[in-house]
Order: sequence, then structure tokens, then C-alpha cells
Amino acid sequence: FPYECLQPFRLSVSTLQSVSTRLKKDMIRGLGKHTHHRAPVKMLPTFVRATPDGTEKGDFLALDLGGTNFRVLHVRILEDEQRVVKMDSQICAIPQEIMLGHGEKLFDHIAACLAEFLDSHELKGQTLPLGFTFSFPCEQLDIDKSVLIRWTKGFNCSGVEGEDVVRLLREAIHRRGDYDIGSVAMVNDTVGTMMSCGYRDQSCEIGMIIGTGTNACYMEEMRNVKRVEGEDGRMCINTEWGGFGDDGSLRDIQTDFDLVVDKTSLNPGIHTYEKMISGMYLGEIARLVLVKLTEDKLLFDGQVSDALQTPGRFETRFISEIEDTGLENTQRILTELDLNWSLGDVRLVWLVCDTISTRSAQLCAAALATIANRIRNNRGLDHLKTTVGVDGTVFKKHPNFSQQLQATVRLLAPRCDITFLVSEDGSGKGAAMVTAVAQRLALQPVVFEKLLLEAWGPFDLLVALW
Ligand code: GLC
Repeated sequence: FPYECLQPFRLSVSTLQSVSTRLKKDMIRGLGKHTHHRAPVKMLPTFVRATPDGTEKGDFLALDLGGTNFRVLHVRILEDEQRVVKMDSQICAIPQEIMLGHGEKLFDHIAACLAEFLDSHELKGQTLPLGFTFSFPCEQLDIDKSVLIRWTKGFNCSGVEGEDVVRLLREAIHRRGDYDIGSVAMVNDTVGTMMSCGYRDQSCEIGMIIGTGTNACYMEEMRNVKRVEGEDGRMCINTEWGGFGDDGSLRDIQTDFDLVVDKTSLNPGIHTYEKMISGMYLGEIARLVLVKLTEDKLLFDGQVSDALQTPGRFETRFISEIEDTGLENTQRILTELDLNWSLGDVRLVWLVCDTISTRSAQLCAAALATIANRIRNNRGLDHLKTTVGVDGTVFKKHPNFSQQLQATVRLLAPRCDITFLVSEDGSGKGAAMVTAVAQRLALQPVVFEKLLLEAWGPFDLLVALW
């Protein structure tokens, strides 16, 4: 293979198997009472105890914070048609200075966007229940009490880590004093995705995101969730698999480029796995490789442009565009980056992108296979048939990411038959769904949940929350 610097990105099946074995051990550490606090894979209980029963209904607000944009949605759940309908939604940009400023400013901004939405949709007079998809690692103490462990992706607001995010939101709304919200349910985007897909396909028991960040949740047996009382039934666990490798366990597969991306990121040493997989970082890895190949005189006649030297200028969406059919996209992108390309360069740039996105898909597959194998073992099954709800721009937009991922999962989890269900607006609709179920259950005595579990088993229920 002529391009030495691309070699470390190529992972053999046995390496992927070894990655999966390491993750399996880390998942057990994350679940354990005494091992959890030092575990890089956090395995956070979500208090979602099973997947919706079709009787949920009503109007809800949903907030979605976690990627580059913040969204407000008005969602209606129609019981008769068993459908979740997005009535309206609005996107609010979050300026960089807010993403990196004081937490109070962030929540004031969120409260202001919500106010504007309620105003323009004439909803201000109503006090609607609200589902808050907050896609960062949180220690959930209750459905409406959720403490941020640490920021990930592009956020780094002061005064939020260690605090209850629901309280910060309510305080910001009270500071304004012009409207109020009803009960709040907090969800991670993976959980929202699983729940919204679960309304369509009741065997959906894994939620996965491959977008700005990457993560997954799945239904774990309560007897293995050592940090929560109780042995019966199941609970959804937010794995936070992005943190895999934060204790150095993946050092052998990290390339020099991964190390630079980590070092120059907002959160060095944190979310090692995510930095090798997700949209926030893939473009930057590619840029560093392209610079290196140019410096080695293998590209662009050895001439690096200022644009290519600029961190962040080679966007992750370029990788998807370059790998899409034809070479025109590549030519256009390279021209926009002020590079003097030849046809040979165009082909090599394609190879760089393909190498990086393939590794991302394979690593993601290794993690997903670990979860599927775990579910199969948990249930003592010879063969598992299950559905994964998926969302995220990398998965949705890249031309062959999904095929690569599926092919690798088949290799690493041969006894699991996995259906992929792409979620539309999962985190918004899912948050509304979790809120709806929380409300429904709040009106029922606890014994009711228990009776249902005994009568039908946890998987005939859709969602049951504490
Ligand atoms: C990051 C967050 C995680 C989220 C994921 C996908 O990894 O820590 O909570 O689910 O991004 O958005």
C-alpha cells in the first residue's frame, strides 16, 4: 500500500474484534456499582423502563439541544392513528460565543427562542408539557432531574457541569416571566431516537446517533444495572460510547492525526472514540492527512493552500460529497480550497476520504455489534432479531456509510439479525413520547406498571418511566 500515512487507518477484522472485546469489558465496568466512577464508558441509567403502549396522546413541546443548532418543536401524538405528528418547528442558531460563554446566557438564549416560537404559534397561553432532548452525558436522578457530567462536542459553557439542567432551564424561563411550561422530561438523543422508532416498530430496543457526535442506548436487564435498585424488567442505558478509550485503552489504534485532533479540541482526552468516528471530527482528520500528503509531495505538487492550512476548513460534509458519484464534487471542493489539483490528486483525495469514513463506519459497527451480542447473551438466545433506530448526518448523508456499517456488524455479530430504522425527527418526537408516557404513568399507581409487567412481560409495554 503506497501511502504510508493511510495504513494505520486500516483496521483488520481481528483488530475490530479486539476493540469489541475491550468495549464489552468497559460496558460491564460502567454498569458496576464500584467500578462506575472510574469507567470511561459511563453506561448511564435513563429511568426509561421499557419501550410506548399506544395510548399516549396530546400536545407537547420539545426542545432539542446537542448538535450545531437548537430546535423547538410542537408535537402532537394522535392516539387513534398511532402517529406522532410534528406540527411546527423552528431552528435557532447558537452563536459560538454562547456555546463557549456562561451557562446562564445559554439558557436565556434557549428561553428566548422558546418564547419567540410560542409567540409566533400562539401557544403562550397554554402550559404544555415539555420534552427536553439534551444530548450530552447526564447523570439522571429522575425523569426531570438530570445533572450534566461534562460538555462534549462544541460546547463549553461555564457553570453548567455538575448542575441540574432542568433547574437551569426553569430558572431562565422564570427570569423572563412571560410564559411557563408544564412537566419536563429529559432525554438523551439516542433515547429519543429509540423511543420514536419504538412507536413504529416494537422490537426497536437500540438507539444510535452518528452525527456531530456518536452514541447509543439499549435496553439492559435490570439485574445488570447495579447502580439502580431492583432486579426485574429492563431499563434503557445511555452508553456514552464516545468516551471509550479515554483511559488510553485504544492507544494502539489511534493514529498521529487522531492525537492532533484530540489535542487541539475543546476537550483533550475526552471522548476519544467519538473523535475517531463522528461528524465534528472527520473533516479535520481528513484535512490533517491531506496536509501531510502534500508536505510529502504526494499531492498538489507539494503546494499547501492557506485554506487547507486552516483548522476546520475541510468540512465533514466534503467527505460525503467527495465520495458521492463522479469526480466533479471533488474538483469543485479542491478549487474552492485554492488547491492546484491534477486528476491524480482528485483520486488520492477520494482515497483519503474513503479510508477515513470506512474506519469510522467500522468502529461504529464494532460498538454496535458489542451491544447486539450483549443483548443476545443477556437473554440466553442463540439468535437475536432486533431493530436499531438511527439518526445523525454522517449515517444519513454519507453515500456508503450505512452499507459499510451493516457489513461489518454482520461480521462481528453473526448471530444477530439487525434491522436499521432511520429516524425522522427522532429526538424531537421521542422526547414528546417520553413526556407523554411519563404523564400517563404519573396518573397511574405504581402497581399498575408491575401488573402489566407480570401479565405481558416488559416488551409488550412501550414506555414505562419512574
Ligand atoms: C455526544 C454526547 C452524547 C450524544 C452524542 C450524539 O457523544 O456526549 O450524549 O448522545 O454526542 O449526539
